[in-house]
Amino acid sequence: MAHDFLPINGTDHIEFYVGNAKQAAVFYQYAFGFDLVAYAGPETGVRDRASYVLRQNKITLVLTSALHPESEISEHVKRHGDGVKVLALWVDDARKSFQETVSRGAEAAFEPKVLTDEYGEVVVSSIKTYGETIHTFVERKNYKGPFLPGYKPRKSTFKVQPIGLKYVDHCVGNVELGSMNRWVEFYEKVMGFSLLVTFDDKDISTEYSALMSKVVANGNGYIKFPINEPAQGRKKSQIEEYLDFYHGPGVQHIAVATDDIVFTVTEMRKRGVEFLYVPETYYEDVPQRVGKINESLEDLRKLNILADRDEEGYLLQIFTKPVQDRPTVFFEIIERNGAKSFGKGNFKALFESIEREQALRGNL
Ligand code: FE2
Repeated sequence: MAHDFLPINGTDHIEFYVGNAKQAAVFYQYAFGFDLVAYAGPETGVRDRASYVLRQNKITLVLTSALHPESEISEHVKRHGDGVKVLALWVDDARKSFQETVSRGAEAAFEPKVLTDEYGEVVVSSIKTYGETIHTFVERKNYKGPFLPGYKPRKSTFKVQPIGLKYVDHCVGNVELGSMNRWVEFYEKVMGFSLLVTFDDKDISTEYSALMSKVVANGNGYIKFPINEPAQGRKKSQIEEYLDFYHGPGVQHIAVATDDIVFTVTEMRKRGVEFLYVPETYYEDVPQRVGKINESLEDLRKLNILADRDEEGYLLQIFTKPVQDRPTVFFEIIERNGAKSFGKGNFKALFESIEREQALRGNL
């Protein structure tokens, strides 16, 4: 393989801009089992925003709200609703990451800068991707603090019960009709990613809700970004619904991995998280389609977990409903048992489920 000009160690963090970070932080602590680990805001000398840093194993979420109307955060929330602003990538050299990508055509979000506090220093730089989303490069090898300089350690005020979420498996972007290939090229040319798999509308159209998707991955495969665009169907594509309500391209879903999806989903349901529903009939052909699995089919049926198999193994997955009132960003919970694919065998059942939800919202 050619020299990897943008080595990435993994996802550093995902930052959401939200209307009310204080309340959102309780949702992710209680329902998703994330620990509060750090905070920045007026009490720590930050005047324009409040940010809550939540962590579960290798997943770090940051929830940020503006304190004033004249703010890029307020503007972002006004336009997009709650949504993902930053997909941050953990690198060994944030200056070089910036130079390598900007010299290949990336647009700068901000130049490399050094942040310091009593725990050491972090170098960050950032480039723009689809919509108003950015990729921030984070170099933290000389840092021992809880998150980034300026953030103070903070603990949850109640006993958080983790649900076994381990790491970010993939993050999916929705882009406008006709621009998927442009963004695939961006990841290939500017970031050195390669095309992993293509789904065309034959793979993933239902009667209505067609889409096209291509998955790009970085050199070591730790970062996987599927990019979706709407395809022509009889009625409105689920991707169009997203674009209408997000008012442009953005992150559609974040897939987080667990080693025990039965436990994870049992806990999430107990705590009030809502999931997409597939009908009973889905489970009729699972044994013959997926073959032998370690979990009981009864548990999967009870929890409405989906299963699929590829040449390398099987996977189990389930999708939450949107986690805010706009039908935009949602989460996927995935347990991989060898399979490296994305659940193509579930697309039809899944999209029919999404269409039922779209119809309920009056957007089909
Ligand atoms: Fe996914």
